[in-house]
Amino acid sequence: MLFLVALEDGEPLGSGVLVPGDVPELRHLFVAEAARGRGIGASLIGAAEREAAAMGATLVELGVGVDNPRAAALYRRLGYAETGERSKTTYEYVDRDGVRRTATETDVHMRKRLRG
Ligand SMILES: CC(C)(COP(=O)(O)OP(=O)(O)OC[C@H]1O[C@@H](n2cnc3c(N)ncnc32)[C@H](O)[C@@H]1OP(=O)(O)O)[C@@H](O)C(=O)NCCC(=O)NCCS
Repeated sequence: MLFLVALEDGEPLGSGVLVPGDVPELRHLFVAEAARGRGIGASLIGAAEREAAAMGATLVELGVGVDNPRAAALYRRLGYAETGERSKTTYEYVDRDGVRRTATETDVHMRKRLRG
C-alpha cells in the first residue's frame, strides 16, 4: 500500500491510499475541511495516477459513496467513468467525540485509463 500525503509548510492537509494490483485502487481520499476547493484533492489523485503508472498499470479504480455527488463530480472532471459495479462496505471509525461507530456505505466504482 502506498500512503499519499499533501503537505503545506510541513502541515498535512490531505491524504489518500493507493492499493497496488492489476488495477490499483485509490482509497480514503481526504482533504482537511478548511483546505478544500484549492486543488489538493486533484493533486493527490494526480500523484496516485503517476504512482500507478510507475507500477505498470494502465487503469486506476476508486469507489465513491452514492451520497457523495461532489466527490463523484471531481472524479468525472478528472476523467473517471462509472464501471456499473457497486459495492457495500462496512467500516469502523471513531467520531469527533471519540465514540467508535460502524457505518455502511454503498460505493459506485469509477475507473480511468491512464495515458501510456
Ligand atoms: C472530495 C475531496 C477529497 C476533494 O478535495 P478538494 O481538495 O476539495 O478537491 P479539489 O480542490 O481538487 O477539487 C474541488 C472539487 O472537489 C469536489 N468537492 C467535493 N466535496 C467538496 C467540498 N466539501 N468542498 C469543496 N469541493 C468539494 C467538487 O467537485 C469540487 O469541484 P468544484 O470546485 O467545481 O465544486 C474533499 O472534499 C474531501 O476530503 N471530502 C470529504 C471526504 C470525501 O468525500 N472523500 C472522497 C471519498 S470517495
